[in-house]
Amino acid sequence: MVSSQLLGGAYCDCFVHLVARGKRFEEGAIRYFPQKRNKPDLTKHLLAGKETMSTRTKIIDTPPKIIVKKELNLLLINGSPRGERSLSRQLASSFIDSWRTKSIAGSIIERDVGRNPPPFVTEDWIAAAFTPADERTDRMNEVLTYSNEAIAELREADIMVLATPMHNYGLPAATKAWVDQVIRVNETFSFDLDRGDFPIEPILQGKRMVLLTSAGEFGFEQSGIRAGKNHLHPHVETIAHYLGVSRSWSASIEYQEFGDKRFEESKARAFSKLPTIVEKIRSSYMEKTKGEGRDRAK
Ligand SMILES: Cc1cc2nc3c(=O)[nH]c(=O)nc-3n(C[C@H](O)[C@H](O)[C@H](O)COP(=O)(O)O)c2cc1C
Repeated sequence: MVSSQLLGGAYCDCFVHLVARGKRFEEGAIRYFPQKRNKPDLTKHLLAGKETMSTRTKIIDTPPKIIVKKELNLLLINGSPRGERSLSRQLASSFIDSWRTKSIAGSIIERDVGRNPPPFVTEDWIAAAFTPADERTDRMNEVLTYSNEAIAELREADIMVLATPMHNYGLPAATKAWVDQVIRVNETFSFDLDRGDFPIEPILQGKRMVLLTSAGEFGFEQSGIRAGKNHLHPHVETIAHYLGVSRSWSASIEYQEFGDKRFEESKARAFSKLPTIVEKIRSSYMEKTKGEGRDRAK
């Protein structure tokens, strides 16, 4: 596996694969070898024993400050009830293509809530969620099945891609239903009155979110003519905190209902942002590994 990373202006294209005592080291790790007249003796870097190694290394002048050794798991939530014609789905699919192009290790899981809407929260659901796990009946556990699965997917995700249409100026009901299933007491948030007026705290943290949207009208940006009608982006921004999101990016298509040149331009702008967002996410993990360590419990 080849990993190409841009680090502080120095380009390092390394291919390091170590096998030592049956243990497989992470591939694609970036190693720094200071410039020497002769090629560096890479074998010094191996553990003693029966190591084997293949490597292709460009020598770089300055040491990278960061070493990225992390698998990034991606969770895609598709919220459109439409299929191939859905613009938010097309954005998501283009984003995933860019993601794959970068050969970033990790899983990609899709929850298609648009075509398979989650169950709504009911009185039974609330009773089950607020009952301590070891006191739940079989029926209660059954009611929480979807929620448990969706939360497990969210917990494992480093990156969450939320692709959704604007419906009636906000989230489509199915996407909102997913949100209601995953934002759950003692699972994704804790509640403690000792915290005073702000008793709710997220349990998850450090995730990255990409919000990909499509709307029929236009002018929903902060200074836009319909900014006051945008209950989609501000809502997702508020919710994101409770999903454990610490950084987010977005790309939006507008003018779908007009179908004119402005629509074509809006589409082109949104699609062209996606590779940059992928790169920014990758860089954000480089920064992160510098000081913060892993953001999810192993
Ligand atoms: C039920 C429904 C409600 C909609 N409400 C809005 C709206 O409030 N504002 C808007 O700009 N477009 C609205 N639209 C248009 C959609 O946002 C637009 O068609 C968008 O491209 C849909 O996303 P998709 O292509 O991913 O399905 C609505 C469409 C539907 C079907």
